[in-house]
Amino acid sequence: MNSMSIELNEKQFNKVSQLVYQFSGINLKAGKEALVRARLMKRLRALKMRSFEEYMSHIENDEGSRELGLMIDVMTTNKTNFFREVEHFNYLRDKILPELRKPRMKFWSAACSSGEEPFSLAILLRDEIPKIESRDVKILATDISTTMLGRACEAVYKEETLRDVPELLLRKYFIKNRKEQPPTYRVKDSVRQMIKFAWLNLMLDTWPMKGLFDVIFCRNVMIYFDKPTQQKLINRFWHFLEPGGHLFVGHSESLSSISHKFKYVRPATYRK
Ligand SMILES: C[S@@+](CC[C@H](N)C(=O)[O-])C[C@H]1O[C@@H](n2cnc3c(N)ncnc32)[C@H](O)[C@@H]1O
Repeated sequence: MNSMSIELNEKQFNKVSQLVYQFSGINLKAGKEALVRARLMKRLRALKMRSFEEYMSHIENDEGSRELGLMIDVMTTNKTNFFREVEHFNYLRDKILPELRKPRMKFWSAACSSGEEPFSLAILLRDEIPKIESRDVKILATDISTTMLGRACEAVYKEETLRDVPELLLRKYFIKNRKEQPPTYRVKDSVRQMIKFAWLNLMLDTWPMKGLFDVIFCRNVMIYFDKPTQQKLINRFWHFLEPGGHLFVGHSESLSSISHKFKYVRPATYRK
């Protein structure tokens, strides 16, 4: 059967958008039909199903909600790369770290995708903090996509996602695998050990983390949420930051139309 002939009708699209929104906050507005259909087709192919009608009844009758999780997984946009929006990393190196002279530091990458963001952070910290082994430096990296978390835990990357990693850091913190063509790069264990990867849906009523963070990265995920959801999230981050702690958001995610208590520091950078 030609997959192009499988139609996602308006009712099915609305039901899927509603489920995705309720569970993940991701707002699939009208106009996103083609995108939703293309992404859902991945699930239909995996399940060898021939219609969205069949898929919708599978979702509705799926008692453990396992399929819902898998559906959310395919609906997420996971684009990322090492040292993306490098101004944040430069600011962290030049302004935040020199001020953060405490033995214990905690960072959170709150939508870490396949790991490039928390690994960039860990590499920067390892490279900048003298005698880092004698200090307690921890990074929590969370995401809603189990597929992406699986990739992050593998920590193996292709050259294209590494193009913004300076050559020196590439040699210092990655192991090149020449057996693969094109070669791949594996993050060294010394860097991997600094990060704990965990599944977390930012929409959950309670977040299980204990203690406060010095810096939270929540970049390029709020663009998928509507204003009330962004508003709620920003207020919650406030309570998870140390006084004086920093929040980085994506450069296209200004907080200008959100009411919050943060001090604006520079584009996409806020301070408690
Ligand atoms: C475009 S990536 C951003 C990755 C990285 N922060 C960056 O800026 O390069 C967005 C990530 O947000 C995750 N995401 C979407 N909704 C989420 C939610 N409700 N809770 C946690 N993560 C979510 C997606 O799975 C995806 O990996």
